[in-house]
Amino acid sequence: MITDEIRQRLVETAIQARQWAYAPYSHYQVGAALLTASGRIYDGVNIENAAYPTGICAERVAVFKAVSEGERHFEAIAVVTENGGTPCGACRQVLAEFGLETVVLIADHQGHINQEVTLGALLPGAFGPKDLPER
Ligand code: THU
Repeated sequence: MITDEIRQRLVETAIQARQWAYAPYSHYQVGAALLTASGRIYDGVNIENAAYPTGICAERVAVFKAVSEGERHFEAIAVVTENGGTPCGACRQVLAEFGLETVVLIADHQGHINQEVTLGALLPGAFGPKDLPER
């Protein structure tokens, strides 16, 4: 269950992380904070590149940091932007891999949560591990 304290902690962590966003092209800075079932929080920022398509979103950085440290069970992720923008399709897909129950908190840079929604609601009919035949 996501408590108010957790909401606040995740949003505050994402706000703090956002300062490290590397977004010299879009000037759209994004911060994310991912809470794992083990209780750890992994943050992430968007990292752009002069070769535009090679940049990566904040949410995926947070997920990849967590997974590369052995984490696979996620409770919630906060995403902070200047205007409360929602996670892109690629990030929804990457998050969906690890569970459709993950709660997504979508907030603005002042910490106002615009939307609280599950991954399953953000990505209905998601293609996932269940769709691949067992090998
Ligand atoms: N961005 C994210 O970090 N997360 C999203 O879910 C949407 C978009 C980044 C990618 C790019 O660096 C900038 O925001 C503008 O698209």
